[in-house]
Amino acid sequence: MSFAPFSIKVPGKAILFGEHAVVYGQAAIAMPVQRFLTLNFTPRSDAVEQPVLVASDWDLRLDLAAPAAGTETLVKALEAGFGQFPQLSRAVHMELHSEIPRSAGLGSSAALAVALVRGLSKIAGQKDSIEQNVNQAMKIEKIFHGNPSGIDHSVIAFAQPIKFSREQGLGLDVKLANSLEFVVAVVGSHGGTAARVGALAARRERWPVMFQPLMQQIGQIAEQGLQAMQDGDLEQIGALMDINQGLLNALGLSSPDLERAVAVAREAGALGAKLSGAGGGGAMIALCQDKAQEVQQALEALGFVVFRSFVAAQ
Ligand code: MEV
Repeated sequence: MSFAPFSIKVPGKAILFGEHAVVYGQAAIAMPVQRFLTLNFTPRSDAVEQPVLVASDWDLRLDLAAPAAGTETLVKALEAGFGQFPQLSRAVHMELHSEIPRSAGLGSSAALAVALVRGLSKIAGQKDSIEQNVNQAMKIEKIFHGNPSGIDHSVIAFAQPIKFSREQGLGLDVKLANSLEFVVAVVGSHGGTAARVGALAARRERWPVMFQPLMQQIGQIAEQGLQAMQDGDLEQIGALMDINQGLLNALGLSSPDLERAVAVAREAGALGAKLSGAGGGGAMIALCQDKAQEVQQALEALGFVVFRSFVAAQ
């Protein structure tokens, strides 16, 4: 089977409220960020019946005909993708370009999962819905993260702000009264979402009486945060981000660099700031509005990779 070359482009994501607690059934709010991953699909020129993935931005080359040691998870992830399209020739060459750093809480693996299933679905000539892509990508995210809530690849597939809970599913009617302007700082690698989620599970098992109320409070913050977004109450959104950060810190998910970034962003005029994603490193997001320039400069002065991202009012 041959096909004309094409590209799939998807955004990264940030979690505004509720990471980790969402794994335990609480609500969370996520949004796309203006950092993109592009996956280019071409037929494999040597026609070997195995896919190749080249990702120079991530320093990675994987040929399933001869996978290198250390690529086992990625091999399984690609198998989970291609396995859902058994009728396809596997002679597919994929070149990945990513502005989304890996292991930074910005959804790199979920973006790869969504782009992969969307591309394979296109090669197969299927007109899959976004919901079908979400279900297909979940099989890949499970390989990457073990027990993903599903929020990361859902927000990336829909490319719009979402409310998400494992019990109530996906909420797409997140209406923002104001556009929101964020500064995002990448303070380093978080060392893998699965490791962070697993470490929290162990702490939660040890201190269930303490941790359960913290999780519930995070869920309440997500609900109140959504209301504040709908009301256009920016100060309230910022205050809730700060409280969410305090609770994430109590759960053991912050890091010295994240705390430094949060403090500097607030000092430079952010309305609120918190870690975003798996924590323990990775990304920090600050709600900035008219102080975005000052916050960006203050974070850059600390040596972090910094970019701006916004969510438009609807
Ligand atoms: C990671 O971006 C978000 C977590 O809540 C994990 C998940 O929801 O699968 C930490």
